[in-house]
Amino acid sequence: MTTVSSAKMNIPITKPYMDEAEAEAAAQAIRSGWIVQGPLVQAFEKAVAARLGVAHAVAVTNCTSALHLALVCSGVGPGDEVIVPSFSFIATANAVLHAGATPVFVDIDPRTYNIDPALIEAAITPRTKAIIPVDQIGLSADLDAVLEIAARYNLKVVEDAAPAMGATYKGRPVGSVSPVTCFSFHPRKSISTGEGGIIATNSDQVAEQARVLRAHGASVSDLVRHNSTKVVIEEYAELGYNYRMTDIQAAVGTEQLKKLDYILARRREMAKRYDSLLASVEGITTPFVPDYAVHTYQSYAIRLDPEVVAPREIVMERMLAQGVATRRGVMAIHEEPLYKEKRQVQVSLPVTEQATRQTLLLPLYTTFSEVEQDYVVEHLKTALVKD
Ligand SMILES: Cc1ncc(COP(=O)(O)O)c(C=O)c1O
Repeated sequence: MTTVSSAKMNIPITKPYMDEAEAEAAAQAIRSGWIVQGPLVQAFEKAVAARLGVAHAVAVTNCTSALHLALVCSGVGPGDEVIVPSFSFIATANAVLHAGATPVFVDIDPRTYNIDPALIEAAITPRTKAIIPVDQIGLSADLDAVLEIAARYNLKVVEDAAPAMGATYKGRPVGSVSPVTCFSFHPRKSISTGEGGIIATNSDQVAEQARVLRAHGASVSDLVRHNSTKVVIEEYAELGYNYRMTDIQAAVGTEQLKKLDYILARRREMAKRYDSLLASVEGITTPFVPDYAVHTYQSYAIRLDPEVVAPREIVMERMLAQGVATRRGVMAIHEEPLYKEKRQVQVSLPVTEQATRQTLLLPLYTTFSEVEQDYVVEHLKTALVKD
């Protein structure tokens, strides 16, 4: 423990880790004269695919569009049901709606906050087409258990690994385990391109279809047309979308990928330090990491025992008054008005409902210093005291 600063500090929930390398890469992309889905997107995709050990990486505008495309390319459409955890960012379920299908919510394991595989079978109906396991806060879901059920029922799996770039499952990179995996490059994730997302897959069919649909359904990409010595006229056989990543973003992403191991090592080091600083604090539970997983720690999620500590919103208010940003631990999608009121979703998910009220995300980022962390911990301890 360092000496806790008596001066008020301003500590955000996260900060992207970028420097002159990203600024210069973006500038070079701009100077090159090719700024949308060109050679730099292709180079970024190759670098991500190599890092994950998969045949294809298809870059898109964000993880929500990645999930939407991945579902469409997995054959999910109107009339289908897709099993999803409710304890996730709303985009997980919204992507199912965008595909014209219906999300069916399943409860989570209270320790990992990921879908509880033991509850999946009861949610399967003749209309079930796919399962979306989510690697919540950067901790891989129990993928083998999900994949085994999917294989038995002939279901597709589209993994939502938005916060899990760099995570591993049983020693394998997340992204190489499920048939299709989607990542986010939003600034809260391990690495960022501002906005951005990518689909990782070994399926030639999914990759090819995703490449066509991300660019309005054009049969030939701009890059192929540009590099051709002949005139090529493209066709539009399917209803596509504009989900193209820019070369400016991809240039930034390629630089970010070089920093991924350092970023993760720093986050894990500071998460471990949180573990030891908070081990003896009464009324909180620190994150559980199963043996099979290496976590990316998008944030550091603690659970508050309402019997022992002050109400969570009061803890958050008190921390904010001291300049420390916190966030509620994810959400219960089925309780949001879009689902509960507009779509009349009536489902009881007790573990999710309790987790969404009791979890609290603490700041964690690459440049997070011990002085900043001690400040957060000291003010957390004070904020937890019941009136
Ligand atoms: C689990 C999960 N899925 C999907 C998304 C959506 O990602 P994006 O903002 O890149 O669309 C997020 C982003 O926070 C997320 O945490």
